Amino acid sequence: MVSRVIPVEPFDLVIFGGTGDLSRRKILPGLFKRFLAGQMPPEARVIGAARSEMPREEFQDLAAEAIREFAEEAIGDGDGDGLAAFLDRIHYISIDARGEKGWNELQDMMSDKSRIEAYYFSVAPSLFGDLAEKLQSYGMADDESRIVVEKPFGRDLESARELNATLARYFDERQIYRIDHYLGKETVQNLMAVRFGNMLFEPLWNSQYVDHIQITVAETVGVGGRGEYYDKSGAMRDMVQNHLMQLLCLIAMEPPARFSPDAVRDEKLKVIRALDPVPPHHIARGQYGEGQNGDDHPDYRTAVGDPRSKTESFIAIRTMVSNWRWAGTPFYLRTGKRMGARSSEITVVFKDTPHSIFGEDAGSHRNVLSIRLQPNEGITLGVTIKEPGPGGMRLVDVPLDMTFADALGPDGGEQVEAYERLIMDVIRGNQTLFMRGDEVEAAWAWTDPIIEGWIKRGDVPKPYESGSTGPTDSDQLLKREGREWRKIAP
Ligand code: BG6
Repeated sequence: MVSRVIPVEPFDLVIFGGTGDLSRRKILPGLFKRFLAGQMPPEARVIGAARSEMPREEFQDLAAEAIREFAEEAIGDGDGDGLAAFLDRIHYISIDARGEKGWNELQDMMSDKSRIEAYYFSVAPSLFGDLAEKLQSYGMADDESRIVVEKPFGRDLESARELNATLARYFDERQIYRIDHYLGKETVQNLMAVRFGNMLFEPLWNSQYVDHIQITVAETVGVGGRGEYYDKSGAMRDMVQNHLMQLLCLIAMEPPARFSPDAVRDEKLKVIRALDPVPPHHIARGQYGEGQNGDDHPDYRTAVGDPRSKTESFIAIRTMVSNWRWAGTPFYLRTGKRMGARSSEITVVFKDTPHSIFGEDAGSHRNVLSIRLQPNEGITLGVTIKEPGPGGMRLVDVPLDMTFADALGPDGGEQVEAYERLIMDVIRGNQTLFMRGDEVEAAWAWTDPIIEGWIKRGDVPKPYESGSTGPTDSDQLLKREGREWRKIAP
């Protein structure tokens, strides 16, 4: 496959929190891969900034180690000098977000205003305001500079509003890139290509033809070392308010007039604002138990160190998008940790044909469009055909399978991870795959009453077995409406 990589303009990317987990796992390895792909121009610089005092060489070593750990396959592919050449682009500044240390030095480094300046706030949200204020007072918050912020963007509507207001004091909305890494996933964008690049689906994409929609993000991992953060968030704040909400938006939104940042985000915002409140009997929350059969993972409460924790590691929700297109079509969302398989999938289940000419014995056969995000990215459409052979008209469902790796040849096109794509979009100045401030606030406005409701009622999440599909309440959510969840399969 011919590479279509177009180098971006020369840039300086400052990573505040450069020695932290996200920088090591995603940002530095992601930049390295773009460097190898030829997208990062030779003049570009990556400047790690963190509190620790360390010489540049030590940070370069840290970056090299991170790349060896998290992008090993890329090193293997590149020429032997790739890593050394990338490390040459790396600098380090010891900086104090709340004091003056390091800021003059950074200001000097960023004095060439012909280059694109991007500042990645890979730090706790409580530091966003300090960093933004410092960038402004040291003359780095100019019209062209941009900042990147990570989730969690607030923990409720009020805190999200405060964060938005703080950032707005120093930067315009067009300069703020709020990352939701799900939007950078290949298949998530493909969802838009499939919906808006084909005539086939859009006419059927409404409550007249769609029975219901399921969105599942199942993980096999537990909370790992993030217990302290996770126990204050839970699956609702950690996954539903952002990642699942974004998937729901892309599935449910009206076609934007063009694929431009505000046209797309305007349509997503309308979906969020059309979401119904969720009553208690449309919510199922769970907490995972310990591992089975030689799997020695601790149960959720042990993992977070609170034997009485009421935080959910699993949640399933039934909601509705109350507008002309979707009134009457339920959307079922579920996500959980320590489940049977890692599988993220969106499923559109179409209605039965209005009348079966094959008689009742033929049973019910529905078209099902499933969009797999990970693993094995691809799209499958279930269609009904005649079972081959004699014996009359027996119907059978078969998949029309478009696993991208099969359909697009052995390379499956260029594999670009979410962070690689999103960081390059920041440099290119393309906000389409980033959340706008009003979107984040609207998502919290829907989320808050749900969380407040279960706190007020004192609800405790139901235990579920590690390696299962979540608590039985989750199955009931669909069963009582005559439906069932799709299998969670790897
Ligand atoms: C993060 C959540 O945003 O997404 C994690 O904080 C979760 O809890 C992760 O594990 C899932 O991302 P992915 O890309 O592995 O599906």
